[in-house]
Amino acid sequence: MESKTLNKPSSSDGLKRIDGHLKVTGGARYSAEFNVAGLTYGVLVGSTITHGTIKSIDTRKAAAAPGVLAVITHLNCPKVPGYQTTTPSAKGPLKIFFDNKILYNGQPVALVIANTFERALYASSLVTALYSAEKHHTKLTDNLSKAFSPHDDNEYKRGVPDAWKAAPVKLEQEYLLPSEVHNSMEPHAIIARWDADDKITVWDKTQGVKDTQNSIAQTFKIPVENVQVNSKFVGGAFGNALQVWPHEFAAIIGAKVVKRPVKLILSRADMFTSVGYRPHTWQKIGIGATVDGKLVGISHQAVGQTSAYEDFAEGPADVSRQLYACPNVSTSNKIVSLNVGSPVWMRGPGPATGTFALESAIDELSYALKIDPIELRMRNYAETDPESGKPFSGKFLNEAYKLGADNIGWSNRSPKPGSVKKDGWLVGYGMSGGVFGADREPATVRATMMADGMLVLQTAVSDIGPGTGTAMVSIASETMGIPTGKIRFDMGDSSLPPAPQQGGSTITSSVGSAVYLACNDLKEKFHQLTGDNGNQPDYIQILKQHNLQKLEVTTASKAGAEVDKYAMYSWSVHFVVVHVNPATGVVKLDKVTCVADSGRIISPKTARSQIIGGAIMGIGMALMEEAVIDHRYGRVVNGNLADYHVPVNADIPQIEALFVNKPDFNINPIGAKGMGEIALIGMAAAVANAVYNATGKRVRNLPITPDKLV
Ligand code: MOS
Repeated sequence: MESKTLNKPSSSDGLKRIDGHLKVTGGARYSAEFNVAGLTYGVLVGSTITHGTIKSIDTRKAAAAPGVLAVITHLNCPKVPGYQTTTPSAKGPLKIFFDNKILYNGQPVALVIANTFERALYASSLVTALYSAEKHHTKLTDNLSKAFSPHDDNEYKRGVPDAWKAAPVKLEQEYLLPSEVHNSMEPHAIIARWDADDKITVWDKTQGVKDTQNSIAQTFKIPVENVQVNSKFVGGAFGNALQVWPHEFAAIIGAKVVKRPVKLILSRADMFTSVGYRPHTWQKIGIGATVDGKLVGISHQAVGQTSAYEDFAEGPADVSRQLYACPNVSTSNKIVSLNVGSPVWMRGPGPATGTFALESAIDELSYALKIDPIELRMRNYAETDPESGKPFSGKFLNEAYKLGADNIGWSNRSPKPGSVKKDGWLVGYGMSGGVFGADREPATVRATMMADGMLVLQTAVSDIGPGTGTAMVSIASETMGIPTGKIRFDMGDSSLPPAPQQGGSTITSSVGSAVYLACNDLKEKFHQLTGDNGNQPDYIQILKQHNLQKLEVTTASKAGAEVDKYAMYSWSVHFVVVHVNPATGVVKLDKVTCVADSGRIISPKTARSQIIGGAIMGIGMALMEEAVIDHRYGRVVNGNLADYHVPVNADIPQIEALFVNKPDFNINPIGAKGMGEIALIGMAAAVANAVYNATGKRVRNLPITPDKLV
């Protein structure tokens, strides 16, 4: 822990999103919106079978169509150096146009490049392929017996196995979560331009410009400094841009073939097959308690789906290791390989799925015990980390329960399901907790004070929407003692000092600490010039006196010994009131209150937006979202935003976002922890628990659509 900490309370809730104006006026330019000289357009052709091989592929008509510059398939694709180094059977990300194997429906089999998008799109319809189809397996629940553990740490045990079975009050239930698709507003898009044989620039939707830079350099075996990645604005991502996907490599290959820049934008349908999703997951929980509500044991098994080529496991059951003080716990995370595209991290990966099961089970147990659900949680409150035995770096979950309960009016809840009606609708109250690891990654920030008093902060982070720039400017303003209007935050450019991916709710903790430390270093440099250590420096005056155009520092920062000393988490609690129509089964949310215990709140306005956005995603998870595969064909049948339902304004009531707002200086000098994931984690269980309270129906199979309630 650094000796100095950011102690001042944050200015107010005043600072507006610094890029808000650009975003709502169209001034923000996303990857596909750049115009590059000589630009060409790529469109992918997807496989129409789900498993098998390509026997032949006919590209002649497409190649002869107007404006077409190239049609690339596995037959003519230039060798990708990084694809050659692994053994062909090794598991890993899909190698595009590598061979004739088809492992999922919609897998890209050709890239058509033309001088306009419309011509490329038309020509893509002329590509025909003959396949040799093999039997496909796309249904998780038919293939659970094939489940395997990809890593040793997917299995965990403490205490006595199956101790829950001997408990006086116990239950065992199964839970099913469908695949969910990120559906960020901005689809994946890339412009790839080779500047020389071994030098490339991309404008690419990514959550990490540095990671994308490294991945491209490795795959094409070119020097990392010869890869320039630009991603100034990202229109939402939620985990789907944490890795470089095959379509990005396709555009890069295509640009090499046609010797011109290629723009490739995924269609909404492609977004359902080729850039990941939250994996369809089966879970089983066995849980038991004493009659006074002390947990005796938990068994939590999860089996998620993955692709035939990559072993992706998100670890949903792990949440049962540490959310409650419980002596006997066993968890298992397995996966099943199916003929589907690879899943990937999606907001709250792991615990979002895991808490749906665990927090539903805790709620169910509370009714069996006739103990209030919050009271039951408090009787099993973990004062130290039950998994490691370490103290928490900071935990105020008990305060979060109280804040939320008061705000939602928890005392109005009837403990008897189906007993309260209002205007003919059944009324129910539900709540659930959420938790996510609070990490701090290495981050470097360059801070430059210009002669005119403008402070420029530079680091290679991306902002997928939470308002990173706004939070960073807030920290710098407090630390330097200058107005926020005099601070510029540059990011989304791989040539800037390194920063982590925007993932895992780490950026405020990681980059925020780096900004804070860089500003301290810069201020210190001014103090050294003046020999005055106490007063607020007059930056412009000092630069002028010393005949300097600017003063600059570059500060690298990372976590220290505290990571071994403490267990570090952020927590949330979600409360909802639902109204359920007893005739139609329609669920309407009446009120939602979310409380975050995520350390110090740096930027209240964007923090509130972050919580509300996550809560809405959680409501979608609870009530609507489901990517449906027609297993006869192995094809996603609702790959569009008309048939794949997400909440709209009319579905969402007023959402209260509350913060415990107690700094956690054990994790970093700014006291802030992540909140992007905990905003969603737990929400689905809160809704399901409220639906049970309203109706007496326990839905363990998401989404809770009306048919499951009538
Ligand atoms: Mo988040 S799933 O780490 O983008």
